[in-house]
Amino acid sequence: MAAVAIEVQGIRKQFGTGKRQIKAVDDLTLTVAAGQVYGFLGPNGAGKTTTIRIILDLIRPTQGAVRLFGQPVRQNNRLLRRVGALVEGATCYPYLTGRKNLEVLARSGGYFEPGRIQSLLELVGMADRADRPTRGYSTGMKQRLGVAAALLGDPDLVILDEPTNGLDPAGMQDMRALIRRLVDEQGRTVFLSSHMLNEVEQICDRVAIINRGRVIREGDVKALLTEKTRLRIEAEPLPAAMACLQPHWTARADGDAAFYLDAGREQAPQIVQRLAASGIQVYQVTLQRQTLEEFFLQATQEGA
Ligand SMILES: Nc1ncnc2c1ncn2[C@@H]1O[C@H](COP(=O)(O)OP(=O)(O)OP(=O)(O)O)[C@@H](O)[C@H]1O
Ligand SMILES: [Mg+2]
Repeated sequence: MAAVAIEVQGIRKQFGTGKRQIKAVDDLTLTVAAGQVYGFLGPNGAGKTTTIRIILDLIRPTQGAVRLFGQPVRQNNRLLRRVGALVEGATCYPYLTGRKNLEVLARSGGYFEPGRIQSLLELVGMADRADRPTRGYSTGMKQRLGVAAALLGDPDLVILDEPTNGLDPAGMQDMRALIRRLVDEQGRTVFLSSHMLNEVEQICDRVAIINRGRVIREGDVKALLTEKTRLRIEAEPLPAAMACLQPHWTARADGDAAFYLDAGREQAPQIVQRLAASGIQVYQVTLQRQTLEEFFLQATQEGA
């Protein structure tokens, strides 16, 4: 059996009391196997950062527990040394350079090595800007430095809260490639949060979709996406084509030349035959995968 990096067991977190009470995390459970990129996807305010803070033992859950590599995380500093993290709102010393900031962090963690700092700066594409004070850094530059900081202690598990936040398109691509390398080449586990569907679709092996502090779907990214397919059919005359298939499938018009049919690839030949038998002209049949975007909208609506 594959090793388990993170186990979140029924955690809840409430902020405030009485009418002002907010359930930021509401009975959330998930398991992250080691050696993969795991996406934690949800809209603003879904509870991603709160969950990450609980996983890192920065705040206490109202209920529930977290285990990392099979051990409880509460007051287990040795365990947290195997974890590197970039969390929303992390700060650095503004008057120190990027390099100096990493140095301070590395010394306080007891793993200072100048060579390693230089190679991390190169890895995140900050080597040429490392000797400027961080007060002049852009959001994206701070983000890159934050990722370097997360990797300082050579962690087995890397937790990144919205790692591409503030990056330009090229920077996002670099970051995605870097995250894959951390797993594919260096054998680490990455747990990242995002509200960007295409990002999760591009880099994650598995995903948990959360909304209002609860997991509404969880699974292999590819499997979740192929869970639902549909056919787009261009045919003439359109009303007759839809009427001929309606008894067996659900059809929805897409403009006045095509329609969507809730059906899979294996049903396409049968559908085309039916249409042809009714004297309908078929111009095109394409199989469409649900995008993560559609999936997400549907899943969050169902969860609401
Ligand atoms: N310290 C706090 N005090 C009160 N409410 C809080 C606190 N931290 C978070 N919340 C509330 O908990 C909910 C979840 O917030 P959280 O920051 O975990 O969401 P998120 O998924 O990270 O959102 P985003 O995508 O915007 O970063 C929100 O309603 C937020 O207002
Ligand atoms: Mg957040």
